[in-house]
Amino acid sequence: MQPFSLSSPLVLLDELAASDTDRVFDYCQDTIFERYLTVPWPYERAHAEGFILEYVPDGWLSDREYTWALRDPAGPGLLGVIGLRLTGESVAADASVHRVGSIGFWLGAPHRGRGLIPEAQRLVADWAFAQAIIDDLHWECLLGNVASARAAWKSGFRYTGVAPSVAAYRDKSYPDSWHGHLAAGDDRSPQPGWPAAALAR
Ligand SMILES: CC(C)(COP(=O)(O)OP(=O)(O)OC[C@H]1O[C@@H](n2cnc3c(N)ncnc32)[C@H](O)[C@@H]1OP(=O)(O)O)[C@@H](O)C(=O)NCCC(=O)NCCS
Repeated sequence: MQPFSLSSPLVLLDELAASDTDRVFDYCQDTIFERYLTVPWPYERAHAEGFILEYVPDGWLSDREYTWALRDPAGPGLLGVIGLRLTGESVAADASVHRVGSIGFWLGAPHRGRGLIPEAQRLVADWAFAQAIIDDLHWECLLGNVASARAAWKSGFRYTGVAPSVAAYRDKSYPDSWHGHLAAGDDRSPQPGWPAAALAR
């Protein structure tokens, strides 16, 4: 698939460009990324270049992972990144086969606290469900990443429990993580059943 844009009055999701390299490099110096994300660490400029020039375009071309730049519709600067990885198929209780995607996201530190991720997740989920690219969207974060959990909770994900991460971390381990999912047709209001620890501010 070719990269394309999604937008609302609050966020613009479009193609990452070589001109975003400095911002990706700067934002990824945040030590919270070392703790909670799978990005390489220490994060070097070559990692930002490889991400933008190779990893992201390869994901679009192979239909393996669709990654967008998250911007303010009023300005071209990069605020963060959101991606949908197509992770495979699962068999539902009624024996139907569901195509599953996994959502991942981050914001540069100055751009947090504005509700940008729930909005961006809504745009990506609406598009992927409407195009029947996936039936089910999976979310996970490492235990303790309350900001990520609150963003998923606010977006309507249902909590499914603690289990090893699906994605391998940089040390090749699969640490215990909070998991949730959103199905096509689910309403997007915050759902009950989340543990207090995942939502504790
Ligand atoms: C996850 C992330 C994208 C969320 O960004 P955001 O939607 O702007 O959300 P905020 O940063 O405002 O945080 C979301 C909520 O968690 C709360 N929160 C933020 N940091 C927190 C912390 N350290 N402890 C407890 N609560 C926290 C905020 O108060 C907010 O709650 P509210 O909206 O009800 O007031 C952002 O925090 C981030 O980029 N983190 C680093 C990368 C990351 O962890 N990505 C997810 C990987 S699974």
